[in-house]
Amino acid sequence: MKRITLVAALLVSFFSKAQYNTLRIPDTLSGTTFNLAMKDTFAQLVPGQQTVTAGINANFWGPTLFFNKEDTVFMNVDNQLNDSTTLHWHGMHLPAVMDGGPHQVIPPGTVWQPYWKVTNNAGTYWYHPHLHEMTMDQITKGLGGLIIVRDNEEAALTLPRTYGIDDIPLVLTDRDFNTSNQFVAVPYGDSAMVNGTLRPQFSVPAQVVRFRVLNAAIERSFNLGFSDNRTFNVIASDGGLLNAPVPLTRYLLHAGERIEILVNCTGQSGTSVELKAYNSVLAQTVPGGDLFPNGPFANYLARIDFNLLHLNVGAQTSNPITTIPTALTTVITIPSASANSTRNLTISDTTIAGIPGASFLLNHRLFNMNYNDYSVPINNTEIWQITNSGNFGHPFHIHDVEFNILSASGAAPVAAQAGWKDVVFVPAHATVSFIAKFDDYADAVHPFMYHCHISLHEDEGMMGQFVVTGSATAISPVVENPAAFSVFPNPVSDRLFVKMENSNSHVYYMTVFDEVGRTKFMLPKPDVFNGLDISSFSPGTYTIQLMDDETKSVATRKFIKQ
Ligand code: C2O
Ligand code: CU
Ligand code: CU
Repeated sequence: MKRITLVAALLVSFFSKAQYNTLRIPDTLSGTTFNLAMKDTFAQLVPGQQTVTAGINANFWGPTLFFNKEDTVFMNVDNQLNDSTTLHWHGMHLPAVMDGGPHQVIPPGTVWQPYWKVTNNAGTYWYHPHLHEMTMDQITKGLGGLIIVRDNEEAALTLPRTYGIDDIPLVLTDRDFNTSNQFVAVPYGDSAMVNGTLRPQFSVPAQVVRFRVLNAAIERSFNLGFSDNRTFNVIASDGGLLNAPVPLTRYLLHAGERIEILVNCTGQSGTSVELKAYNSVLAQTVPGGDLFPNGPFANYLARIDFNLLHLNVGAQTSNPITTIPTALTTVITIPSASANSTRNLTISDTTIAGIPGASFLLNHRLFNMNYNDYSVPINNTEIWQITNSGNFGHPFHIHDVEFNILSASGAAPVAAQAGWKDVVFVPAHATVSFIAKFDDYADAVHPFMYHCHISLHEDEGMMGQFVVTGSATAISPVVENPAAFSVFPNPVSDRLFVKMENSNSHVYYMTVFDEVGRTKFMLPKPDVFNGLDISSFSPGTYTIQLMDDETKSVATRKFIKQ
């Protein structure tokens, strides 16, 4: 009996070790120039046949980008996918033309080069495709990545910040695999994944550990907690640090949201604990709490508790952080009295007559790329009040700004949400309001988006857009006569220069097309004077098109690449 028990115990311990995979930690990129190649590929995610995936410099997901506040960052987004896409910098405050929303479509084979000055606070942001009606498909394949912003204020605090050691990114998703190990693009998968790893485990040092948690799921919310019900401390919300760590045992994280938490593992070497989703308590109105016996929303993880990550506590590092700070920053929230206007938005379940399948709506209409719902005067401070008359809750996200929640279901925001946010959950039959200032970037042509961050709902049209109007903060002077430019040398082999008749002129947008009209380069507000590296182009004739900043009129020139 004893022997059998021992054998059984050994088997259990063998299988329980064998069932885990080591958590992948995404690679990092830092500096001011970031080369991101989006490509179709495949990955060994489950034993046996590989899964067709997409990735960014990787075979699933993409690198974590480190930005320093105040730096100007330059992105080379090379779309090597077989499809058009976009790449959106979720949470970043930047010009709309650089935002990577549904309007900044990058055709296959094209390099898009947005750049902007990082003004966001230290925090955890992310990037992902935003092609209208394709966001769910493209995120499901694995396209996306984290952004970590550093600044002096955060750097002065005694916080863990050794990436992959005591500062660990956790990208929470779920996926559905078919019997050939291929992804099925569905709102809810049957298998939880962290950083693209199924059944992950990871070793953390016996000290204070920081987790940067992103809900990158298509629809599911995760009610986070640890299997021993230990307290963790929320130190940051979407847009950066809170005033002070907020001790909690559960945190309900919705699609698109981020939190940073500190977990104290000091003195726990040799122990293990599970990070779990305690989703059994979620209501039918909360994503992941909705139970469907069958159909496209049925899934194994609906309204149950399930493991996300098995943590093994190992040895302490040298110079460990072993205490949780008592204070972090002073969040100076926007006073509600400073608001210039209030906008009332609605979320509803109602279908639109004549549009089959229209389910969830913002302002009783479906998204239309050519319709601006709002014009926001530059520097306006606005209260957005969102009333959900429907039977389901939705994570509402707005581009351009970080906001402060004013009230949620009639109450002041909870401490962990009293800082800066860019996603807020609007529960069923509830009203949520937030305040934001729309500064820096006016552009009457390119809108910013707001939408439900459940990608399925967004793709179905639960999205709207606004332009920020007013005299654009001139990043670039106007091209007074776009016709008056020349390109040289011509023919050219490596670097093409553009000469403006008026030497003070800059360009609003430059596009380069090949002989058959394929877009090769998309250059918002480019620095034309330093020339354009076209060494990767194959020989042939190309067209270069400049757009005028004020009139948006265009002029073209041809050049020959040798
Ligand atoms: Cu994370 Cu408009 O998106
Ligand atoms: Cu966004
Ligand atoms: Cu929704």
